Amino acid sequence: MADIGNDILRAAVILKSGRLVGIPTETVYGLAANAYNSEAAAHIFTVKNRPSFDPLIVHTHSYEAAKEFVRDIPNKAAALAEEFWPGPLTLLLPKTNLIPTLVTSGMERVAVRVPNHSLTLKLLKSLEFPLVAPSANPFGYVSPTTAKHVNEQLGRRIEYILDGGSAHVGIESTIVGFENNKPVIYRLGGISVDDIERVIGPVTVAAYSTSNPKSPGMLKSHYSPGKLVVLGKIDELVEKYKGKKLGILTFTAARNYQKFGEHLSLSVKGDLEDAARNLFAHLRAFDAMDIEVVLSEQLPEEGIGRAINDRLRRAAAEE
Ligand code: TXA
Ligand code: MG
Repeated sequence: MADIGNDILRAAVILKSGRLVGIPTETVYGLAANAYNSEAAAHIFTVKNRPSFDPLIVHTHSYEAAKEFVRDIPNKAAALAEEFWPGPLTLLLPKTNLIPTLVTSGMERVAVRVPNHSLTLKLLKSLEFPLVAPSANPFGYVSPTTAKHVNEQLGRRIEYILDGGSAHVGIESTIVGFENNKPVIYRLGGISVDDIERVIGPVTVAAYSTSNPKSPGMLKSHYSPGKLVVLGKIDELVEKYKGKKLGILTFTAARNYQKFGEHLSLSVKGDLEDAARNLFAHLRAFDAMDIEVVLSEQLPEEGIGRAINDRLRRAAAEE
């Protein structure tokens, strides 16, 4: 298994030699490599078993630092960076030749973000290159929110994981790009649509599709917890799935479903931020339990609740 610790110097040495390190961010843990080193980036695709058409996000420590490898930043992108970096926002921007083709799967735009995590920001500042870092999970599986999650799945393939505690946001960054200067959200995430619209006005939210090459994180079936997930009203679902070993996921703890199966609630007090923080850990917990089906309700379609519902729908999608 990988070593887990908070030795930034050790992480830097490994990354400088072109090898991989698990890193904490406020959204989920990432599997990091030197973004300017094509071979290092290629190794990420192998370790994650990730198809080469699914491009990587480049992480850097500041808006100023990003200017080294992007060009022609639209005004609205600059406004968003100003407002939300460091934070759970990824911007799609035209890249320079410093970014290898492999990183963007041949596309002209590179995904960039400044993560809001003190350890990782310190690490990024100590390096002379930015880091590519997809979520540190095997392709298609739920993202990791602790160093332990990373170790369980990728620990045999990497040597070191920087431990920054439990991810504070808990779901991935919101991805925003521009088409003919019009802002488009390609992935719902840690920053709500409302918050983005407050800064730049109306945005389009791209519908998910298996044929959308622009953001395979938009693949309908993604974030799978390994068990069948069914969404709906819990009272109806427990009737329908009677006789099966059930996992039951609810928003609050207002009702107790323990007599029907294993019951976890996302936030006892009904707080959406809390729910986002717990979502992936709960899905992992169900995966490890002796159950056959996970029944889940959807959350209020507001604020970060939209992104949580998006992940639940993808976890429930079969293809
Ligand atoms: O919160 C996050 O964004 C986390 C942490 C580690 O930063 N990272 C993350 O990376 O979620 P990943 O690789 O699991 O998801 C990145 C998504 C993918 O769906 C990918 O298709 C999309 O971003 N993406 C990356 N580069 C892109 C590009 N050049 N054009 C369009 N989509 C891109
Ligand atoms: Mg991912």
